[in-house]
Amino acid sequence: MCGIVGYAGTRPALDVLINGLKRLEYRGYDSSGVALFFEGKIEIQKSQGKVENIERLLQQLPAERKNAYRVGIGHTRWATHGKPTTQNAHPHRTGHVVLVHNGIIENYLEIKQELIAKGHRPASETDSELFGFLVLDAMDGGLGLVEAVRMSFLRLHGSCSVVVMSEKEPGMVVGVRNGTPLVAAADEQGGGVIASDAQPIIEYSRDVYFLEDGDMVIATEKGLTFSEIRLGQPVRRTPIHVDWSIERLDKQGFDHYMLKEIHEQSVTVVDTLNEMLDRAKADPFPLAARPGAELLSSASDMTLVACGTSWHAALLGKYWLERFARVPVSVDYASEYRYREPVLQPRSVVVGISQSGETADTLAVIKDMKRRGVGTIGLTNVRGSTIAREVQASFHTSAGPEIGVAATKTFTAQMLSMLLWAGHLGVKRKTLPPTMAVRLFDDVIRLPLLLNDLLARDGALVRATKEIAEKVRNSKGFFFMGRGYSFPIALEGALKLKEIAYVHAEGYAAGELKHGPIAMLDESMTVVVIAPKDTWRDKSVSNLEEVRARGARIIGVGSAGDTQMERLSDFWIPVNTAGLDEGLSPFLTAPVVQLLSYYLAVLKGTDVDKPRNLAKSVTVE
Ligand code: AGP
Ligand code: GLU
Repeated sequence: MCGIVGYAGTRPALDVLINGLKRLEYRGYDSSGVALFFEGKIEIQKSQGKVENIERLLQQLPAERKNAYRVGIGHTRWATHGKPTTQNAHPHRTGHVVLVHNGIIENYLEIKQELIAKGHRPASETDSELFGFLVLDAMDGGLGLVEAVRMSFLRLHGSCSVVVMSEKEPGMVVGVRNGTPLVAAADEQGGGVIASDAQPIIEYSRDVYFLEDGDMVIATEKGLTFSEIRLGQPVRRTPIHVDWSIERLDKQGFDHYMLKEIHEQSVTVVDTLNEMLDRAKADPFPLAARPGAELLSSASDMTLVACGTSWHAALLGKYWLERFARVPVSVDYASEYRYREPVLQPRSVVVGISQSGETADTLAVIKDMKRRGVGTIGLTNVRGSTIAREVQASFHTSAGPEIGVAATKTFTAQMLSMLLWAGHLGVKRKTLPPTMAVRLFDDVIRLPLLLNDLLARDGALVRATKEIAEKVRNSKGFFFMGRGYSFPIALEGALKLKEIAYVHAEGYAAGELKHGPIAMLDESMTVVVIAPKDTWRDKSVSNLEEVRARGARIIGVGSAGDTQMERLSDFWIPVNTAGLDEGLSPFLTAPVVQLLSYYLAVLKGTDVDKPRNLAKSVTVE
């Protein structure tokens, strides 16, 4: 899941690498490093921990030296093989060959034994370093760098990308991709930049080449060239224009990206509506035409596969698609589904939901389904991501770049997209009566305003979640519970709290609490009860009473004006669901659990945007 940047051109390469690595740190931050050409030799700096550590090391270099570099590669690591030490940090040097690697070399043991038998002695515990020996041996055998990288890469099993330089051929950076993302752009000032995603390169060009599996890219001062690895033939690739602005990548006065992204959710809803709908049409839920979209309406049943937060969004997708469109929907963890024997019908459709569009398990399901001839749909937040390109019908959530490792606005955008699918199909299949469709669509259109009010910068919700976090910060553990549409939000609230505050939390369907976990409840525990006024509210209130009877502290999240809920809760967080279809409450309750987790994490002093052990894009199994 590491982040890679490579540059060859006319700008100071060190700045390109460091700025790029900072934008890629969401991918991993166990260690980082850079390798740069200086007078024909490659100099390497690396350190455990975040990019700021190597930045500090590099500050000691004289300014003329820092400005002199023109070619280099950089890496920020999410360790899979070997501890997060400086020794294991990338770039790795083997003689005159230096490389950075993202992913896993699955046959590394076999390669390692072969290399050791030849007398080579790897210095790190990583699988990555071994690739350098393969390239070195191939170059010693007479091949040039490009051919040596190509032949060596063909030996690897597993998903990975590698970017390589050699002192024997200065001025050249060679990247290869198989399974994990690699993108490139020609620098408008001359030269080329290669990276794990588009964020580090949009400063240099908005026209981004998303490499295909099996592609090689070579960056030199003259620009980029592409070839195909298997036969070594040149290929033409067409760039995709990326419309993100640099400003959208900045914090805009918020303490963390996550906080900014939570507050952006009303804009997210507007952007996703504009992306998904054909607003020129007057009927409710007019989905914009896109290639393959007929798969949605022709599906006899759908399986939504995803991981983590995207899986929670999928759970809500199921509720809406079943209720409004009457399509049978199942939801699966991609990591489980890929190893099962699912029963599929001729018109079954499998939908991969992934903000990054790169999650290894979700991608594997999509590829497998494609092989079997099953219809595939993707819902991702990254145009040109691998899932977006693999599927027959690709939908884009338009949440803009999400830097905080914890997903927030992309969750909202995913929910909204699936709700729009459900409304659209409901209208088409006539399972959603016309008056109901109009009313529901009007409610959807109200969401940006409701979110704007809810998420005012120093508004009531911010104040309440901040204060409550202070009061419950020492709880031994947390439960989040809800029924119906609030159940996935309970799961999401618990996941958010675990991942950014490192606090034990569990999400439960409120009806399930008494089947075991209630044994854990006493005064030391806090239970967040999510129960807006809907079909399930009274049942949830009974469950709230059960929790209260065990002495646990209760944070009630419900509809403004629900005085009974307010009275029963130790802390009360109202949201304005008045007049809104009950199916839309997740759009208002999600920000509540996001902010609560955020302020608890801030009090715990964790690194909110880059929580330990996590990475934003999980490209390993
Ligand atoms: C979300 O906060 C998590 N960081 C994680 O669960 C994430 O949702 C999961 O890894 C799936 O990622 P994706 O949406 O990019 O596929
Ligand atoms: N396997 C490599 C390592 O452990 C790269 C890991 C990754 O890309 O996440 O260093």
